[in-house]
Amino acid sequence: MNQIVVAPPATIVIFGALGDLTRRLLAPALVNLAESGLLTTDTNLLGISYHDCDDEGLRRALAGFLNEGTGWEIIRGGIHYRKGDFTNPQTFTSLAAELGSNAVFYLATSPSFFGPIVEALSAAGLLDEAEGFRRVVIEKPFGTDLATAEALNRRILACAREDQIYRIDHFLGKETVQNIMIARFGNTLLESVWNNRYIDHVQITAAEAVTVGSRGRFYDATGALRDMVPNHLFQLLAMIGMEPPVSFDAEAIRTEKEKVISAIRPVDPQNAIRGRYSAGTVAGEPVSAYLAEPEIDPTGRTETFVALKVHVDTWRWAGVPFYLRTGKALAARDTEIVIQFREVPLSLFRKTVVDRLPPNRLVVQIQPDEGINLEFVVKRPGPGLATTPVSMDFSYADHFQVSHLTGYETLLYDVLTGDQTLFQRADQIEAAWRAVQPLLEMWQQGAPEEYPAGSDGPESADALMHRAHRRWHRVK
Ligand code: BG6
Repeated sequence: MNQIVVAPPATIVIFGALGDLTRRLLAPALVNLAESGLLTTDTNLLGISYHDCDDEGLRRALAGFLNEGTGWEIIRGGIHYRKGDFTNPQTFTSLAAELGSNAVFYLATSPSFFGPIVEALSAAGLLDEAEGFRRVVIEKPFGTDLATAEALNRRILACAREDQIYRIDHFLGKETVQNIMIARFGNTLLESVWNNRYIDHVQITAAEAVTVGSRGRFYDATGALRDMVPNHLFQLLAMIGMEPPVSFDAEAIRTEKEKVISAIRPVDPQNAIRGRYSAGTVAGEPVSAYLAEPEIDPTGRTETFVALKVHVDTWRWAGVPFYLRTGKALAARDTEIVIQFREVPLSLFRKTVVDRLPPNRLVVQIQPDEGINLEFVVKRPGPGLATTPVSMDFSYADHFQVSHLTGYETLLYDVLTGDQTLFQRADQIEAAWRAVQPLLEMWQQGAPEEYPAGSDGPESADALMHRAHRRWHRVK
């Protein structure tokens, strides 16, 4: 990871400039970066899409979603719009005259355009780095299974070098996720117990209270597994499971992450639960069943919840299951990682009222709260032997003035400064798809188990834990 310096000037070309991602996340993130003094005044944003619009129209469309302070003043004048068809070579040849020496091409488009846009950029000579850098940022989903991900990698790597390609996983832009590496490798305390001698199992939960809402068309063709597991949840698993890198250089870190993702044993369908929400109540509001949502095939089998037991076949993790779960329309929004330690080897209290002590847990809270808690057991004051679990809590909010960021600030800054640490390499993505491929095949049959909206998910997800005498950490 690099020192914090002002990013070099560049033209950021956004394909899909009037879309949701650009308005809600990319433009606000650029404004926040400018506000922090990390962008020069000659950073330009060139928006392209097939709608009729002009420079002022794009500025107006973006302004509605961001804070119009000094950051906006810095970048506003550098925002331009060109109408263009992503499948027409003319769109790309006419771009050449608009770019400075450095350019970033951000593909905030439907995934069907990822391959064609990279090929067209290359054919127009726009990826040649004669004078400055040329980088391509690719959003998710990157492929829909192993074969399509491999094909997309081949297609784009025929046009650009791996070090020009930035495959985004926005979970890696979250502060608490980046903090996992610091917590692990910056402290002796944790790393010395970070293995199968001391850890019983790991839980990774990304629970969402939101429903599918207006994203029905995308979601019904995607489902919870493809949407969240090989990318976001496996990236969290990699942060927890990776070996110490030999340095903090991007390639050293990416290599360690790839090693652990490729050690994930292809998931046995017996260890996988899929669910779909039925009507219920979330936060006091009635929610209709997934199958009754707009643009959903009422005869379809798309899952809105997944729970998996995953084995990581490395020396460090042999015998330590990783339980992963994610879903929509759940009781609350709660993304967290729980490291559950083993029980003490010998209960010295067996002959007392304390027969079984709860094991230690380290809970990494990612959102909405951000922090780290360590749960342990203490003696209750007073005569006799009674114990109680307590928690040592570190909360980001207590220590740092955290302004509201989108998570894309770090990622965009890293693209501009050429730091690929937080981006997925081709081999990581392929290894992740390989691990979930058996489920993609198996789940072409049958149907997900229903769970009421506002619950913690289907009952079988609890049974997956109970089978091994374990239980999920509660969703808040
Ligand atoms: C996206 C998924 O990648 O991540 C969405 O497509 C999901 O379905 C979202 O809601 C979750 O991100 P966050 O940052 O809100 O936790």
